[in-house]
Amino acid sequence: MQTRTLGRSGLTVSALGLGCMGMSDFYGQQNDAESIRTLHRAVELGLTFFDTADMYGPFKNEELLAQAFKGKRQDVLIATKFGIVRDPNDPTKRGINGRPEYVKSACEASLKRLGTDHIDLYYQHRVDASTPIEETVGAMSRLVEAGKVRYLGLSEAAPATLRRAVATHPIAALQTEYSLWSREPEDEILPTCRELGIGFVPYSPLGRGFLTGQIKQFDDLEADDYRRFSPRFQGENFQKNLDLVARITDLARQKRCTAGQLALAWVLAQGGDVVPIPGTKRVAYLEENLGALEISLSQDELAQLDDIAPQGVAAGLRYPAAMMGTVNG
Ligand SMILES: NC(=O)c1ccc[n+]([C@@H]2O[C@H](COP(=O)([O-])OP(=O)(O)OC[C@H]3O[C@@H](n4cnc5c(N)ncnc54)[C@H](OP(=O)(O)O)[C@@H]3O)[C@@H](O)[C@H]2O)c1
Repeated sequence: MQTRTLGRSGLTVSALGLGCMGMSDFYGQQNDAESIRTLHRAVELGLTFFDTADMYGPFKNEELLAQAFKGKRQDVLIATKFGIVRDPNDPTKRGINGRPEYVKSACEASLKRLGTDHIDLYYQHRVDASTPIEETVGAMSRLVEAGKVRYLGLSEAAPATLRRAVATHPIAALQTEYSLWSREPEDEILPTCRELGIGFVPYSPLGRGFLTGQIKQFDDLEADDYRRFSPRFQGENFQKNLDLVARITDLARQKRCTAGQLALAWVLAQGGDVVPIPGTKRVAYLEENLGALEISLSQDELAQLDDIAPQGVAAGLRYPAAMMGTVNG
């Protein structure tokens, strides 16, 4: 398995990680048995970097990983996140909490659910506008001192926040959405990560599944699928975005790979400090996605993809308008 090191942190992980969110939340029906087979197959194939969060489920996804990794803890690096707080009575209602006492209690709860004595990479899931980042990262750094966490990360943090954060404690990774249909991080976020020695972990590198070409109509999404509420999957946007996927699929055909593999190979080609975490709950998709590591793209092919998918190409915002205020914070 190819490996990559996250920025200047020294944390070396498999070059592709596995996003575990969809196993327990957001993307239609769950199947724990197949999810556990997928986690085991990932370990067998040498994938080491597993991504979860306390809010996935909520809580169920961390528990699922604990169940799958019993006896395998030494083979895996677990990244989890805190800070998006869901209302137990209505999980669609959310708050953001980065207060020091909350950071400590959230970590204790995640350790318990994960059945482990340490978290390899602990992210703040969203920046809390009402708590100075120095206070949040300060509390996170005390978890490192206590041996409960090895490395720190942030998710959807803006460049100015990153600068303030690293002045408090080194940050190993920034996790932000990045893919052929979400290229905004190229302007400021990626250059800032590189300057500060922060590794970059693109989430939703398959455009929440859309870039694979497997979602062909709105009704392919189950009734409770989160993507039904995502602007890029709605109305005219859906159709326009299908045209984009058709062009990616054409190029993939010429390359004799799948559209999803091409989308992942493109993210991987953006730099050795970039570690995408495609999500799946199926063994077959996991194996297909790992095939992206064998695909190299020529300058000409990269230029063709720039032409097909320039920044801003996607129709629709990447989150519902009401949630856009919580990203790039
Ligand atoms: N920090 C954040 O705020 C944040 C936000 C979102 C996600 N994340 C993390 O990033 C991870 C990845 O993002 P994501 O899951 O949102 O999106 P993604 O990786 O872009 O896409 C996942 C979707 O693609 C489908 N898929 C995967 N491989 C496929 C293949 N080879 N062929 C066809 N379909 C395929 C999956 O289907 P199945 O589910 O049927 O396998 C799933 O519906 C998540 O699991 C989570 O850990 C973080």
